[in-house]
This record gives sequence, structure tokens and C-alpha cells, in this order.
Amino acid sequence: MLMLSTRRTSPPRARRALGAGLAGLLALTGVTALAGTADAATTLASAAAAKGRYFGTAVAANHLGEAQYVSTLNTEFDSVTPENEMKWDAVEATRNSFNFSAADRIVSHAQSRGMKVRGHTLVWHSQLPSWVGGLSATDLRSAMNNHINQVMGHYKGKIHSWDVVNEAFQDGSSGARRSSPFQDKLGNGFIEEAFRTARAADPAAKLCYNDYNTDGINAKSNAVYNMVKDFKARGVPIDCVGFQSHFNSASPVPSDYQANLQRFADLGVEVQITELDIEGSGTSQATSYGNVVKACLAVTRCTGITVWGITDKYSWRASGTPLLFDSNYNKKPAYTAVLSALGGSSGGGDGGGSAACTATYAKAEEWSDRFNGRVTITAGTSAISTWSVTVTLTPPQKISTTWNGTPSWDSSGTVMTMKPNGNGSLAAGASTSFGFTVMKNGTSTPPVIGACTAS
Ligand code: G3I
Repeated sequence: MLMLSTRRTSPPRARRALGAGLAGLLALTGVTALAGTADAATTLASAAAAKGRYFGTAVAANHLGEAQYVSTLNTEFDSVTPENEMKWDAVEATRNSFNFSAADRIVSHAQSRGMKVRGHTLVWHSQLPSWVGGLSATDLRSAMNNHINQVMGHYKGKIHSWDVVNEAFQDGSSGARRSSPFQDKLGNGFIEEAFRTARAADPAAKLCYNDYNTDGINAKSNAVYNMVKDFKARGVPIDCVGFQSHFNSASPVPSDYQANLQRFADLGVEVQITELDIEGSGTSQATSYGNVVKACLAVTRCTGITVWGITDKYSWRASGTPLLFDSNYNKKPAYTAVLSALGGSSGGGDGGGSAACTATYAKAEEWSDRFNGRVTITAGTSAISTWSVTVTLTPPQKISTTWNGTPSWDSSGTVMTMKPNGNGSLAAGASTSFGFTVMKNGTSTPPVIGACTAS
């Protein structure tokens, strides 16, 4: 997969010059500049790949029109999980009438970028249309199997892992199965039946059981463990167990997280961290994220990590700011901790490395058809030798002129990456600025300024 990146950490001068020349050449030919191995470990995906893992995120189809959402997705991640679009209520709201349009948009985006796709999820008590609950046992069995066959058939060959059954166990100490139409009418055997149907529907897909509050060793994870052990002993097809890993102060990363992943791996299944998010901020959030990544890396069969969203602003629990990018797509200390735990390089951002910068935007002059913007770059507590920042417009706005910087553009002309033009070297705390003129083309929305990165 090719990575689009705006971030480099102290590249050799010759490589930098070559990169600039290549970017210019590509721009002349109308091709977006793509970074290759020079950026090998400066993104989550490339750093994880160097460790033989994927690094994914949940994606919502309705954000795929937002330039910064997409550029962050494309730059940092190599696996996606549709956050809601493959759930039963989304694809089969009416019996045997399937609508794959939103999920298809995510899958085709991923495929066009060489990203993996996790399928989520086939049999789950939640986001289940009410008609399912009204069926008799015989009818429900055939509806469940039909749902699996139709959905997996539609995506056959395109999904690396499916969450075949999701959240089938109760919380607490009982170790019992959760009440659901499937459990209540079909009994314990519904899980096994779903996995057998799934294997036949797409033999190439890995078949996972996925749950939450199973991240440490406890009654619920013991119950799942016993089920997986039984499945392996009896040849029921199961390839992986997903650990959702939704954490907060009331439910922190368990101290036996790694040991728990390991005991499942020892049963002969892959383990995947499937919905990671950790409420909090700053160093404590970063430390927790780093610990999760280290635990996965320490378990050979832990094959990948998926975070449950890209930016805090679209998280299912946004007020807990649980993700790696803040609402303005700035990399958080948690991002730096994850990258560093993956063995990547943390040249800038808020949380690590000594070189850092901030970017602030101010509107200057405005006319009926255009306005000028100015971005001030300020070095952090150490001197920096270069900086980079993105400016994202609202289409059909266009930038007509820039000054005091070296711009490059994404293929749509919506995202400008600005680098220094002789003003890259800043003492600790010192500032410089660049400017640009935005042609409104009918919209006066201010541009969104991305994270400032420095080295
Ligand atoms: O799309 C509609 C919108 O049209 C409507 O105006 C709005 C008003 O309620 O609702 C929107 O749908 C919401 C949907 O997310 C999309 O944003 C649903 O109400 C809301 O219930 C749904 O929440 C999802 C939740 O699963 C439902 O159980 C979250 O986005 C999603 O992150 C969350 O994901 C689950 C995993 O699938 C399984 N593990 C737990 C995880 C977190 O709860």
C-alpha cells in the first residue's frame, strides 16, 4: 500500500531534496505525491506492518466526503471496519431485502487503497430489526442462515475477518449467555450453527467471535474461553477472537490483558483488538494506549489492532475523547504513544519527541469573492529545523495564491500541505507565518488547519 504522508523525521538532506524534486515532477504530471519507504515507520499502518500487524479503524460512510477524515484514514490506517453499515438493521431492515449501498462505499474505498476490511457483524442482539424477534424458531434459524449467506456472499473474498457472532455472553459473574432472539429460541447451538454457515459462505474469511468486558481474565472471558476451547476440540470452525477493548476510568486496561490474550492464542486462534478506545487525555491516556499496543505485540497471534474511530468528534462517546486524533485531527499524545510502541518514529505532535510545533489560523483581509488567511507556526520547547501543516478547504473553494511557504496539493485540490520556504528553522518558542488567498466560490467557511508536525 502506498502511504500519503505529510510527516518526516529528520530525513537526510539528499533524500529531502530528491523528495521535493519528485513531488514537483509528480505535481507537473498531475499525480499526487506519494511517499514510499522513506516514511516507512512514521504512520500507524506502516509501523504496525513492520511488526507484521495491521492497524485499522472503524469508519462511517457518511464521513467519507470530509477531506481531513479521508486523508487521515488514508495516511494512517490499513484496515477498516464499517462502524454501523454492515449490521443487520442496515443491510436487511426488511426480511430478505438487502441494501449494501453504505457498506459498499466503505469497502470500495478500502479496496481502492489496498486496505483490509473487517466485517462487523452478522449475528448480534443489538441493531436487530424487530421482525427478527417475531419469528418462530424454525423461521429464525433460516433467517439467520440466510442473513449470513447473503451478506457474506455479497462480500465474498473481500473481508479478511468477520465478526460472525457479537456479544453473546452476559456481563457479570454468571458466565451465562445473553438473552436474545437467537439464544432464547435456538439455544446455545446458535453460535456454532452461525460459524458453520459462515465457513461455507466464505471459506477465505477468518471467522471471529467478538465481545467486550472480556479483555481481562474474568467470569465472562472464562465463559468465552471455554466455548472457544470446546469449538476447537470439536472442529467447529473458529479462527479468531475479537477483544473490543473499550476502556475508561471505571473499566481500565486490565493488568492481565496480555495474559488473557495469550491464553486465547494458546487455544490456536488469532486474537484481534477490534474496537479499541480509551477515554481520557494526556499522559495517562497515552500510557494506556501504549500498554495495549505492547500487549498485542507481545502475543505472536495478536494480528492487528482496530481503533473505534478516527477523530474524537465522531466517536460513539465523543465526550470521553477516547481516540488518537482530536476533533481537529491533531495527533494526541495517545497517537505518539501508539506509534512509539509500534516502533515507529515520533518526530512531532503533542506527546513525544522533542521537536514539536503548533499552528494557529487567523483570517486577514476579506473581499466579496475571496479572503486572505494567515497561519502562524510556533516551535515548541525545542528548536525545530522544519515544519509541515495542512490547510483543508470547503469545496468548491480554491486557493489562488500563497506566500512564505512551499505548498503541495492533494489530487482534489482541497487539501494543501504547506512546508517552509526558507523559514523552517525556528528557535524554541519562536514563530513564523505563511499566508494564502482563498477564492470563496460561494462559501466563506474558514479552512481547517491540521496538526503541525516538526522535526
Ligand atoms: O444514523 C442515525 C441518524 O439518522 C439519526 O438521526 C440518529 C438519531 O438517533 O441516529 C443515527 O444512528 C445512530 C448510529 O449509531 C449512527 O450514528 C444510532 O442511533 C446509534 O444507536 C448508533 O450507535 C452505534 C452503536 O454501536 C449501536 O449499538 C455506534 O455508532 C457504534 O459505534 C456502536 O458500535 C458498537 C459495536 O458495533 C459493538 N461493540 C460496541 C460498540 C460501541 O457501542
